[in-house]
Amino acid sequence: MTGVTIIGTGRYAPGKPVTNDDLARVMDTSDAWIHPRTGIRQRHYAAEGETASDLGAKAAERAIEAAGIDRAEIDAIVCATMTADYKFPGSGGLVGAKLGIQGVPAFDLSAQCASIPFCLQMANGLIATGAARTILLVAADAHAGFMPWTDWDVVYGERDDVVSEEARAQATRHRGLAVIFGDGAGAMILRRAEVEGHGFLGAQLHTDGDFAEDIALLGGGFRSRPFLTHEMIDQELYVPRMAGRSLFKHAVTKLPRVVRELCARHECAVEDVDWMLAHQANDRINNAVREALKLPPEKVPSNIARYGNTSSATIAILLDELIRDGSIQRGQLLCLFALGAGLHWGAALLRY
Ligand code: ACO
Repeated sequence: MTGVTIIGTGRYAPGKPVTNDDLARVMDTSDAWIHPRTGIRQRHYAAEGETASDLGAKAAERAIEAAGIDRAEIDAIVCATMTADYKFPGSGGLVGAKLGIQGVPAFDLSAQCASIPFCLQMANGLIATGAARTILLVAADAHAGFMPWTDWDVVYGERDDVVSEEARAQATRHRGLAVIFGDGAGAMILRRAEVEGHGFLGAQLHTDGDFAEDIALLGGGFRSRPFLTHEMIDQELYVPRMAGRSLFKHAVTKLPRVVRELCARHECAVEDVDWMLAHQANDRINNAVREALKLPPEKVPSNIARYGNTSSATIAILLDELIRDGSIQRGQLLCLFALGAGLHWGAALLRY
């Protein structure tokens, strides 16, 4: 029995790009700080009122077109986002409604930046058990709502002004987090592979809740009555808190290990993998993982310079770019790996 394979992909990034210099208009930062530490040159942001399900539906439309299917053939949606339109319900049903496929069950998955290997495992299970035949996997994040500034017109260069000292100080307090995230969506249409040995081969997934607060949105949670308070706003808890160095260490130690474990389980050598598709959180993390696995740079592609960290969407966007430009070929072995808030981490192997 074969696993799921990808029959079409799509991506969407909203609005015009915002460069590191653009961000320096509202906070104390610079391209000279951001680029060498992360690889990021620019990112996109959803417009006011534009949500994760809007971005996801746009990416999904492109994936449906690329797969050459009728959208009515989709019989399950697996949706990943950490910036859902609502606290509840999840965004998967909204993506379905925007695509006009109401009634199709949506499975919302909250594995943040680690979503893609988790989603592939879930989609494979749905197809293997006969619960679905054609799945839309959609991964979208719209982080603009937690950015620590309000002067969007200054960011976009539409108002040539100096922001208030208070506004600048506020944005600067959160600069380590704010500069790395960008908005976007990626989508895949998944079906059982028709060729023996092709499709999803397996995943190695891990979660450790002891590190949940290494990156978490501390405001607006049901640990508090009411779940949202004025104090949370006063303490700027609508901006996630991130222990960047701790996450960096988790990533550079756990990701090479999980890739090695997965390859060993499937009796393939790490160097047999044609494409290592890494979550785009930081080029320095991915370079360290690549060196630990002794892989050449061309096997570990990066697009973080253009998008920043789009959380759940990074691998799906990267995959779409590499499939559309003809880099990824049918029959090649892909390893998709990621680490994110949870703490969740894992890798998936798929023969495309
Ligand atoms: N511009 C200028 N200076 C800055 C900025 C900025 N944007 N951000 C921080 N600084 C300053 C700090 O104030 C600090 O100054 P100080 O030494 O005078 O106090 C100095 O730079 C170092 O700050 P750190 O936060 O320690 O910077 P670090 O070297 O750790 O880099 C970074 C931060 C890039 C975020 C890094 O820690 C990282 O990439 N971590 C991993 C993040 C990650 O993987 N997240 C994935 C999970 S995300 C998810 O699941 C949603």
